[in-house]
Amino acid sequence: MKVAVVKEPRPGEARVALVPQGVKALAKAGLDVHVEAGAGAAAGAPDDAYREAGATVAGSAGEVLGGAGLVLHVNPPDEALIGSLDRGTILVSFLDPLGSPDRSVALAERGVTAISMEMVPRITRAQSMDALSSQATVAGYKAVLVGAGQLPKFLPMFTTAAGTIRPGKALVLGAGVAGLQAIATARRLGAVVEAFDVRPAVKEQVESLGATFLEAEEEVTAEGEGGYATELSEDQHEKELELIASAISGADLVITTAQIPGRPAPLLVTDEMLASMQPGSVVVDLASESGGNCSATKSGETAVAHGVTVIGPVNIPSTIPVHASQMYSKNVVTLVGEFLDEEGALALDFENDVIGPATVTHGGSIRSERVRQLVGGDAQAGGDAASGHGAPPPEAAGVSADSRGAETSTSAADPTPREES
Ligand SMILES: NC(=O)c1ccc[n+]([C@@H]2O[C@H](COP(=O)([O-])OP(=O)(O)OC[C@H]3O[C@@H](n4cnc5c(N)ncnc54)[C@H](O)[C@@H]3O)[C@@H](O)[C@H]2O)c1
Repeated sequence: MKVAVVKEPRPGEARVALVPQGVKALAKAGLDVHVEAGAGAAAGAPDDAYREAGATVAGSAGEVLGGAGLVLHVNPPDEALIGSLDRGTILVSFLDPLGSPDRSVALAERGVTAISMEMVPRITRAQSMDALSSQATVAGYKAVLVGAGQLPKFLPMFTTAAGTIRPGKALVLGAGVAGLQAIATARRLGAVVEAFDVRPAVKEQVESLGATFLEAEEEVTAEGEGGYATELSEDQHEKELELIASAISGADLVITTAQIPGRPAPLLVTDEMLASMQPGSVVVDLASESGGNCSATKSGETAVAHGVTVIGPVNIPSTIPVHASQMYSKNVVTLVGEFLDEEGALALDFENDVIGPATVTHGGSIRSERVRQLVGGDAQAGGDAASGHGAPPPEAAGVSADSRGAETSTSAADPTPREES
């Protein structure tokens, strides 16, 4: 089977979906990998390295995609890419299925089987396929470096002949994968770190990294299904803001990472809080692409409010493309192994506890109940995937019928994908 890897069309994107090491692994499994010339150049993977690993390098995306049974990609595909996929092609990529559900409609109409990296369940078995985690690791690390680079101060303590410099203080809000990595990085740089999350389960992890977990007098918690955060009640949100306000005025560097899947990011740093901070302090808002955690955040820009620099980075994993691509490639190769048989032929099984929840479209239909709801379809029409009655009729999601629809047979539980184990 032909596997295609194109140069990511997103402006400024430096990552690639498959590195040469990944080519070797797929070739060993019997797959024929084709890579667009220059696809890995910015990620430290020149064309020759792909050739040496056993791939065919071709000059254009069209050449690479023609006849491909499997396409590996990083960013959600644009219209042009979707339009160039053959019916029945399997696409493995970030798809932003909850943020841009219309893309799933387009993929279903095209007859593409789309496997969403966001929908890979957060179960122990699937950790090596979890690209949200691998890319969040990159983001958490880089956010601290970006913030430290903007600070007019040191982060570490220095005892020098010119005097003693006190260590800088960092505050990390949201201690998921990115937040924990930010804590670890700030600690390595010598900062004194405080952190807060609405999931009390992370207190121990925060403390094990040498940071202090902020605790309110009354508990502020919002833990939902699968270990994910839910939105706080108004009352609890007020309490959280009071807690943050009490800590933020002493912070030199604030890293915010708080997100709620499928919802806008919660506001955690208000204008009043910014006014209470020392001028020259820095906020790096990793939630800037989903609305931001800080009132002054401008996605993709650096703003200054009350003398505080507020950075809203976009696509931060792409700024460490070598390792971000290496990790993503490993995630993808492991995931592909879930739907190949011993001869390297496709063997999609929606009973599989990773492939079932991660496959958003198949056979002309949208399989994901949450995505169907978002595009206005009747989630129950045709039987909930979890009930074992097969995928819904295409009409349920406004998707035209496709001749391949009949072959869809699944009892896989749809995406409340984030179950913890
Ligand atoms: N078992 C696994 O394989 C595995 C792997 C990765 C992540 N996980 C789990 O998945 C879950 C999500 O992790 P993520 O990093 O993708 O999270 P995320 O990116 O969705 O959110 C980042 C953090 O923001 C926090 N948050 C949300 N609202 C907040 C608020 N109002 N104030 C403060 N913090 C707030 C969340 O609790 C989370 O820790 C976690 O429970 C994590 O432990 C499990």
